[in-house]
Amino acid sequence: MARRDRLSSLHRSTTALLLVVWLAFSARSLFPQDSPAAATSKPAESPSENGFPVNNALVVSKCGGCHATDAKGNMSRISWIRTTPEGWEEAIKRMVRLHSVALDPSDARKILHYLSDEHGLAPEEAKPVEYFPENRMIDERVPSEAITRSCVACHALAKPLSWRRSPEDWKLLINTHIAFFPWVDSLNFQRPPQRPGDPPPPSGSDTRAPVEQALAYLNQAGSLHSAEWADWHARMRSPKLDGRWLVSGTQPGKGKFFGAVEIAAIPTGDGFTTKTKLTFPADNSTVTASGKAIVYTGYAWRGRSTTDKAGAAPNDLSTTREVMMLSKDQSRLEGRWFWGAYQEFGMDVEMRRALDGSTILGIDKFALKTGSFASEVQIYGDRLPANLSPSDIDLGVGTSVKKVVSSTPTLVKIIVDVATNAMPGKRDVAIRAAVAPGAFAVYDHIDYLKVSPQTPLSHLGGDPHAKGYCQLEAIAYANGPDSKPNTADDIELGPVNAKWKLEEFVATMGDDDIDFVGTLDANSGLFAPALDGPNPKRKFGRNNYGDVWAVATFKSAGSDQPLTARSYLVVAIPQYMRWDQPEVAQ
Ligand code: HEC
Ligand code: HEC
Repeated sequence: MARRDRLSSLHRSTTALLLVVWLAFSARSLFPQDSPAAATSKPAESPSENGFPVNNALVVSKCGGCHATDAKGNMSRISWIRTTPEGWEEAIKRMVRLHSVALDPSDARKILHYLSDEHGLAPEEAKPVEYFPENRMIDERVPSEAITRSCVACHALAKPLSWRRSPEDWKLLINTHIAFFPWVDSLNFQRPPQRPGDPPPPSGSDTRAPVEQALAYLNQAGSLHSAEWADWHARMRSPKLDGRWLVSGTQPGKGKFFGAVEIAAIPTGDGFTTKTKLTFPADNSTVTASGKAIVYTGYAWRGRSTTDKAGAAPNDLSTTREVMMLSKDQSRLEGRWFWGAYQEFGMDVEMRRALDGSTILGIDKFALKTGSFASEVQIYGDRLPANLSPSDIDLGVGTSVKKVVSSTPTLVKIIVDVATNAMPGKRDVAIRAAVAPGAFAVYDHIDYLKVSPQTPLSHLGGDPHAKGYCQLEAIAYANGPDSKPNTADDIELGPVNAKWKLEEFVATMGDDDIDFVGTLDANSGLFAPALDGPNPKRKFGRNNYGDVWAVATFKSAGSDQPLTARSYLVVAIPQYMRWDQPEVAQ
């Protein structure tokens, strides 16, 4: 989940509780005359933009009672809105919850599919906010302080940026917020930053109310009509994905993986079934899983799969959700598979259609050191040629393949030397004409470490709220040609086996958070939070929340100075209310 979204979770829990109280009242009696409720009952008067007509009998019959259709086939609100499958799911759920719309699950699914296909986002529009459905923890870049205060106080900026609306409809959304959350004014939602008696604002500063500034930004960044959507909507094809796909990726805490997914279209047209097999070279373990997926808007893969054998550790793959984007030529899928109560465990996944010829997916190692001799390297791929000799295989300048140890169509093991004076940098791996670009790095020493994620959030838990874990990783880097850290030419060398510990983040006198927040496994980097609820052993019987440093230490072979790095870990109370939309995968 987006970082901002998570940090505001405490705030949001309060918001949600108040919302529930609010919803106990009859929704419609709450809306004043020019409210969004009134706006749905009649077609928008002289809309400033053309809408997208709704040509679907089910949508008209289920939604038309309140969302009137005009002479051009436009339905009020619905025709002036585009969004992601998660956005539509959220809107439909609110119609059911708040406006008592009666929908059986199969009709809801059909409506979700129709609206996501016909009133969706183009791939180019979805890509910048893809981290939102992928549930990634990132630091969002918010364009202005006004938008932080008016919108990001409650949810990620990716939430509004997942929608496209006409100017009238953005305005209605704001009205809906004011009706639902009257206390938004305590966030300076509408109040201008400038108050009577304040010193004059610096010249050139924006004196509009924060929400006006947010609206101006959204009218430009979230406009209903776009060249991207016009293009995509015209050329969108129904996905033909039947067949064998090759998978590769990385999972924090477990390293690289390679494998294959067998995709089959469900004959009734309700999506696809999948059978997956993955191999993790780091411990040579394998996972098999089977699942189902739906593709919305011609590219938005939403799947769910279950492993055939449940793992024991909390970060072992169990039931995963899959959010991926299909390339326009339908040859690649890319995204994140995730699981855990907070979707905190996940893997970066890349899939490509299996070809008639050889494909190289990658090698087991992230990096090879200069002056390392006789290392075994495993090359993973598909339909790799038989009877290979060392001269068929190329790992780039400064390396030499000494021997082919074994070979199968999916795995070739070789022995490699890396010269003492090999130039540091990324290398391709080739077997005859098949190539995996940038498959590993050559380095002469590690310059620094970075802990990933940099500012993670974990949640206390127990019963009934599940814990939110955090898998930390120490990633090694070389400074690159400019010899300076944190510049564009730095070479990422992959995760290293660091030792882990917690350190106090001194924020208050007598801070004792590390005794209470939870435990960080010294070898695996997995942080397990403590139980939630008041702790009588703690001063004032506080909950076990707190903020600490997660510190990684690593000593690389041949250097006597250990490297350290740390990240700032916040351990919060459980998130009592979720706005996740898991149904889109079903
Ligand atoms: C019983 C009346 C009613 C029905 C039926 C109804 N809606 Fe609504 N809808 C409303 C009201 C009232 C609003 C404005 C308040 C709000 O946004 O919740 C609204 C707002 C919306 C919005 C704008 C929400 C936003 O994010 O600003 C969308 C989209 C929407 N409806 C979609 C649908 C769809 C799709 C259906 C059919 C499955 C549907 N509605 C059926 C009453 C209804
Ligand atoms: C007081 C907290 C709060 C603030 C401030 C806030 N939102 Fe929301 N917003 C919510 C909640 C809660 C929902 C989910 C409502 C639901 O589905 O019932 C939501 C939903 C949305 C949605 C999804 C559409 C919908 O109607 O569900 C959009 C888009 C959105 N907000 C945009 C914005 C923008 C733009 C701003 C800033 C101008 C903003 N929000 C400020 C709490 C807030």
